[in-house]
Amino acid sequence: MTDKISNNNNVTWFNGHVSRKDREKLHGHKGALLWFTGLSASGKSTVAHLAEKELHQRGCSTYVFDGDNVRHGLCADLRFGHEDRTENIRRIGEMVKLFVDAGMIVLTAFISPYRKDRRKVRSLLKDGQYLEIYVECPPDVCAARDKKGIYAKAKSGLIKDFTGVSAPYEVPKNPDLTIRSSEEDAPQSAKRVIKLLEEYDLI
Ligand code: ADX
Repeated sequence: MTDKISNNNNVTWFNGHVSRKDREKLHGHKGALLWFTGLSASGKSTVAHLAEKELHQRGCSTYVFDGDNVRHGLCADLRFGHEDRTENIRRIGEMVKLFVDAGMIVLTAFISPYRKDRRKVRSLLKDGQYLEIYVECPPDVCAARDKKGIYAKAKSGLIKDFTGVSAPYEVPKNPDLTIRSSEEDAPQSAKRVIKLLEEYDLI
């Protein structure tokens, strides 16, 4: 769909006078994407926000995008069937690519259940700019944590296509980091995320 639109519109990419390197120099760190993936209520947002807080305190330019927020605006027209989820992740991927180009450290918290969709986002960025963080948590623990009561609704059939109940989640094969949120606490996990950025020489 994207290619078609670009071809039909005869659009060309315009390079400005300020390069990504210039922006990164100003920020004092490189642009990067920390892509958290995992079941609903697995702890993606909690860890992403804690890591962001630490990065912000260190003077980094950051932003967190999460599923519930983005689905209020940019992706408000999408639901939870396979095609809509793919489109959700495609739009988000294109959007965060621009944020990374702006030199920011972007943290995202989307279930992003399909490997193919996550791979596509990775392919939009340069090597080492996309770091995949799998937040692993048994479904029964997610359900017990769930304040919104959506697992109960999904189990009773009130919500269909619910990840982990009536829709699949494809576990990452080679994530850059795995967080077992039922075994370690969120501040500990956030520290490991910061360490990952240091190991990749991004901060
Ligand atoms: S994704 O699969 O397309 O990546 P996304 O992260 O944007 O999903 O949205 C997930 C959030 O939407 C969940 O945390 C939950 O609050 C809500 N939600 C509502 N319906 C569903 C559903 N059928 N499956 C999963 N999450 C749902």
